[in-house]
Amino acid sequence: MDENVTVINHPLIAHKLTLMRRKNSSTQKFRSLLREVAHLLTYEITRDLELTTEVIETPMQEMEAPTLAGKKLCFVSILRAGNGLLEGMVELMPSARVGHIGMFRDPESLEAVEYYCKVPQDIGERRVIVVDPMLATGNSAIASITHLKKQGAQNMKFLCLLAAPEGVAALREAHPDVPIFTAAIDERLDDHGYIRPGLGDAGDRMYGTK
Ligand code: URA
Repeated sequence: MDENVTVINHPLIAHKLTLMRRKNSSTQKFRSLLREVAHLLTYEITRDLELTTEVIETPMQEMEAPTLAGKKLCFVSILRAGNGLLEGMVELMPSARVGHIGMFRDPESLEAVEYYCKVPQDIGERRVIVVDPMLATGNSAIASITHLKKQGAQNMKFLCLLAAPEGVAALREAHPDVPIFTAAIDERLDDHGYIRPGLGDAGDRMYGTK
C-alpha cells in the first residue's frame, strides 16, 4: 500500500467499528461509538503536531513543559456525515477552527455537487484535516479538496472511518499530495456507490433518518 495511505490499526478502533457495522446497533449507540472512534482517530492523525515548550509552575516547582506549536489546525467537515466525526475531533482539540463543505451525491451520476462552503479566511496558513466517515467513490472528497485548494489550503490530510479501494485510488490520483487516514479499507464499492461490507449510509445511521 502507498505510504500516503494509513490504515489506523488499533484493537479498540477495530472493535468499535465492528459494533458500528452491526445493522442492529441503534442510532444512539452508533453516534456514541462514532464519537469515541473520532477521539482515537484524532489521537493518531495529530501524532506529528509540533511541540514547543513554555515555563509553567506546578504546585511543586517551575518547569519547562510541552505545548502545541506550529501551524494551527482547521477541521473541514464534508456535510452531512462529516459532522459526526467532527464532533469527537473538536472535543479533543477545542481550539481548532472548523469549516464546512456541503456536498450531495447525484444519485444517477454519483458525481458530487457542492451546495455550501464556509471555511476560515486564513485556511492557507493552517493544517487542514478534511473529514468524511465514508470514502466511497471519492467524488465528494476530491471535489471538496479541489475547492479547498482554490480557497488557499496547502497542507491537507483526509480522514475517514471506512474506505473503498476504488475511493482510495481515485483520491490518490486526483490529489497525490493529500495523505489518507482511515480505520479500515473494505472490499469494494457496489453499483449504487455503497461500500461493501460497509456499514450502510453513515448519515442515516448517525441521525436516524431511515
Ligand atoms: N456513503 C455512505 O454513507 N455509505 C456508503 O457505503 C457510501 C457512501
